[in-house]
Amino acid sequence: MPAVITSHGGHIPEHDGKITFYVILCVIISAFGGLLFGYDIGISGGVTAMDDFLIKFFPDVYEKKKHAHEDNYCKYDNEYLQLFTSSLYIAALVASFAASKVCSKFGRRTTLQIGSFFFVAGVALQAGGVNLTMVVFGRIVLGCGVGFGNQAVPLFLSELAPARIRGALNICFQLFITIGILIAGIINYFTSNIHPHGWRISLGLAGVPAVILLVGSFAICETPTSLIERDQIDQGKATLRRIRGTDNIAAEFDSIVIASEAARRVKNPFRKLMRPSSRPPLVIAIVLQVFQQFTGINAIMFYAPVLFQTVGFGNNAALLSTVITGLVNVFSTLVSIYTVDKAGRRMLLLEACVQMFITQTVIGLLLLLHLKPAGSLSSAEAIVVVVLVCVYVMGFAWSWGPLGWLIPSETFPLETRTAGFACAVSSNMLCTFIIAQAFLSMMCHMKAGIFFFFAAWILVMGLFTLFLLPETKGVPVDSMVERVWKQHWFWKRYMIDDENDDDNVIKG
Ligand code: BGC
Repeated sequence: MPAVITSHGGHIPEHDGKITFYVILCVIISAFGGLLFGYDIGISGGVTAMDDFLIKFFPDVYEKKKHAHEDNYCKYDNEYLQLFTSSLYIAALVASFAASKVCSKFGRRTTLQIGSFFFVAGVALQAGGVNLTMVVFGRIVLGCGVGFGNQAVPLFLSELAPARIRGALNICFQLFITIGILIAGIINYFTSNIHPHGWRISLGLAGVPAVILLVGSFAICETPTSLIERDQIDQGKATLRRIRGTDNIAAEFDSIVIASEAARRVKNPFRKLMRPSSRPPLVIAIVLQVFQQFTGINAIMFYAPVLFQTVGFGNNAALLSTVITGLVNVFSTLVSIYTVDKAGRRMLLLEACVQMFITQTVIGLLLLLHLKPAGSLSSAEAIVVVVLVCVYVMGFAWSWGPLGWLIPSETFPLETRTAGFACAVSSNMLCTFIIAQAFLSMMCHMKAGIFFFFAAWILVMGLFTLFLLPETKGVPVDSMVERVWKQHWFWKRYMIDDENDDDNVIKG
């Protein structure tokens, strides 16, 4: 067996182990957390474009929409409508810190179970909503589900996966997000013709995956890492044997024990995160999530039906175009699963920056030159916009989408993993909130300029990737410090040993 050097200085053999049926089952069940996140992302745009929904909760927007051609860019600009979409993410932001505590104290499985209770309750409140307060409250409860789910699932997948397919298994989370977005798009396409309760069906059907996740979360195991970290050594060993389908687990077991011992010595993971040696993974985790959102992806995911109506499609054509971009999103994510452990993370991110920069700029130019506040694009121009959006989504889906989640889940050492990942999740939620809350107003004020705004961000993130993001392909999680951070021209300056910091370490 080849040996690797751990961050703790020991030599640990790389581990073998089959991909057991049980692991596959656990992956599928947990990935339903991603599906629900995706469903929530994809459903709100279609629902907020439905007249029945607007008449019931947002009569002002409905009135404005009737005079659609008065101002293309502003017809949906309403802060309450945006609040409907964005409230979920602010709740998820707050919930992810609580989820991080639950995740390290009670395990990934319990965190997922709590998340699925929130999902079921949130769906019931939304689908049964009789007034705006109830519907928005339902979204806040769903947001707590997202906070707990997004904290637990990527960590659960990374810890459950045999090391050699960690990247691919982790991206299953993103794959399920994209499937959720697609299903939501398809459901909206049909329910928009069901009056007056189509929107209730759209929101209520999230109950199906929510119940599957709830029931399934009782069938999955806790990860060996979490069990061992919480002193349940024998159970951890037995689980490791079960998920690897072999008795030959001594090497992997030892490496988890070493990592857990280091983790247990850290009294306050959040304070440890503030130490210089934690800076490289922390800065990268946060920055990747901020950049992921400022690619502008959710302007498309949330508001694609609105956007496509803006460029001149009718309601049905707009929803159909949303389904097409949803399909592109799913299939391009598969490309990422295939290439991430071969081409590497940097290569995918950089290529996508070029692709997304060009498409955002061309969309901006097209709208600037041809879409006036009143009037619409010709159908040929509108189709070009849809094609450009597809090429843009393609680039995002094989890079910033999955890698925004993968890289933060594989670069923190165990002692700061849940705390560091919580910072990543909450940064993502904060920026998702900002985009959800601001996009329609930004479009109203900046008009076509909004696309240049995102293109500028893409340029910045390309430069960051080029100079500051190290490659983590094929590097075992426990070797990041030695093989990545200590070798990097910039980040190595933070790699000073703070092992003996009294504030962080329990003496013993
Ligand atoms: C992002 C979401 C986005 C989705 C699109 C995810 O990685 O976190 O905000 O809507 O990808 O597929």
